[in-house]
Amino acid sequence: MSLETLNVENLRCVRQASLELSPGRSLITGANGSGKTSLLEAICLLGRGRSFRTRNSERLITHGESRLVVHGRTSGLNRPTIGVQVVRDQATVARIGGEFTRSLADLSQVLPVQVIEPGVHKLIEDGAFRRRRWMDWAVFHVEQGFVETWAGYTRALKQRNTALKQDSRQLRAWDAEVIRLGEALGASRRSMLERLQPFWREAIAELLGLDVTLGYSQGWPKDLSLAEALVACRERDLAKGQTHAGPHRGDAVVRLDGKLARDNLSRGQQKLVAVALILAQSRLLQDLLPDTPLLLLDDPAAELDGSKLAAFISLVAKLRCQLVVTSLSRDQNPFGPPDRMFHVEQGRVAVI
Ligand SMILES: Nc1ncnc2c1ncn2[C@@H]1O[C@H](COP(=O)(O)OP(=O)(O)OP(=O)(O)O)[C@@H](O)[C@H]1O
Ligand SMILES: [Mg+2]
Repeated sequence: MSLETLNVENLRCVRQASLELSPGRSLITGANGSGKTSLLEAICLLGRGRSFRTRNSERLITHGESRLVVHGRTSGLNRPTIGVQVVRDQATVARIGGEFTRSLADLSQVLPVQVIEPGVHKLIEDGAFRRRRWMDWAVFHVEQGFVETWAGYTRALKQRNTALKQDSRQLRAWDAEVIRLGEALGASRRSMLERLQPFWREAIAELLGLDVTLGYSQGWPKDLSLAEALVACRERDLAKGQTHAGPHRGDAVVRLDGKLARDNLSRGQQKLVAVALILAQSRLLQDLLPDTPLLLLDDPAAELDGSKLAAFISLVAKLRCQLVVTSLSRDQNPFGPPDRMFHVEQGRVAVI
């Protein structure tokens, strides 16, 4: 499965663009500020319902306009079209095959997209939120019903937190749901990380060659059940009005020689660790799904020295996936000669 066409209206400096992408490698070139990353953001919107650069999708709308629209046609069964629309002061809406989706997460089923971009090191540097999202994106693809479990847990947790603040007699009613769904969510993440290990070890050995480990922190002490952990932190929960144990505090823990990677690695090394996490997931999904996720590479050579770039290229070459790569120059093709090439100038796209 691949994205065959991309139509963009009013996304940042791209007022109107239509691209026929290759199922293999497409290259987008152009000067700084021409709109290369904006085009990748458009593809990301189709696959994830949001950009990788901002959580506030309104920022993507071209200044002076009130809405942006992105459309694409995939090569999947029945070649469904996907459309995403962002309107100022309104929730983002998406359609698949003309039908409105229940949730933006549905997009991911039709067009799974992975992104490696200059800000990718934040996956290591920032708080656990990003790594939970990274874990959950993969679990979502390999486990049927995960979205329902995740949404149910989030709802029950919110109710429990309200009970902690307002009426602790209600606590017992929500505990059962928090425990049932929280244990399930935690087990799903653990299982995904276990299956990921061989791909992670291969990727990190090739990219970094250091003893970096990937562990799992479930969000409550590992020798306790979630029920026991909730009992243990009950006083603290009541005092603070929030739940201190559960998968909402889980993390994928990356360590170098036993110490947290974010405190001990350079920015460039953090980027390599993040790349290893992302490519390992692509390899896992390649094994488990009919299609490997589309991979967006925004200026992939930035900040990587020659040997690291070579390792990166060889890992990407092991993926049977659609690639869309940006580059300042058309002469820089580290991932091999592209099957299709586009040039962007001030938001206008031409085929070259
Ligand atoms: N909401 C917006 N409306 C209009 N233009 C915008 C908006 N947001 C950003 N821009 C402009 O869009 C342009 C394209 O940015 P983009 O990041 O896509 O360029 P790029 O080709 O990836 O550049 P670089 O090579 O520096 O990474 C920038 O000049 C930016 O000022
Ligand atoms: Mg860019």
